[in-house]
Amino acid sequence: MTSDYRENSLKYWNEIHKDKDRSDIKYDDWLLKFDDIITATDRPILDLGCGTGNDTLYLIDKGKKVISCDQSPKAIESIIKNFPEVYDAKCFNMLDGFLFEDDSFDIVIADLSLHYFREDDTRKILKEINRILINGGHLIFRVNSVNDVNHGAGQGVQIEHHLFENESHTIKRFFDEDDIRDFFRDFEIEFLNEEIMTRYSMEKRLYRGLVRKK
Ligand SMILES: C[S@@+](CC[C@H](N)C(=O)[O-])C[C@H]1O[C@@H](n2cnc3c(N)ncnc32)[C@H](O)[C@@H]1O
Repeated sequence: MTSDYRENSLKYWNEIHKDKDRSDIKYDDWLLKFDDIITATDRPILDLGCGTGNDTLYLIDKGKKVISCDQSPKAIESIIKNFPEVYDAKCFNMLDGFLFEDDSFDIVIADLSLHYFREDDTRKILKEINRILINGGHLIFRVNSVNDVNHGAGQGVQIEHHLFENESHTIKRFFDEDDIRDFFRDFEIEFLNEEIMTRYSMEKRLYRGLVRKK
């Protein structure tokens, strides 16, 4: 099954993201805390693992230029259909490296999209994010917490420390604070908090973070 994770993830997310209308897309206010940073940039902001665009819509509503990216062609079709205002939309798999030049972005946002990978892939992806940020640029993220028991923490088949295969035969990582400090070691942590998100029917426990390229 191991080598199928990539394919299973694509299948899973394509199914979830198909046939979404703009009225289906809702955002919460998790980015408000970083409003000063977001307001300060005129350059495009990268919405990494954008899905059907909760954060893309938030940023568009704030008048920002957004480049929305996802592995799922269904997600990207939906972004292009629902948000003609989007600056750009690109379909690529983070496992293949990033399409962007060094120092391309002031801000990368990765909302619930960095916890689907094995340790070595997670490290490669964070290196890529670091590479495409300008010096002093920010990554704003949310990732699963080890306490997210309503959404699979500690359940299924353990593949690595804090990484589990679930019933859809995809993998999910659940972070604790030590994991985050280790994985994000090439960044300065400016804000990190474990909190509860209420987007889904069951409460979700996650970490919200703001880190700066050193
Ligand atoms: C939980 S959704 C989050 C969507 C959006 N950021 C939000 O918070 O509403 C996770 C997203 O990450 C994307 N994703 C997962 N693995 C990926 C990969 N290897 N490359 C690119 N995108 C990926 C999925 O396709 C999915 O759209």
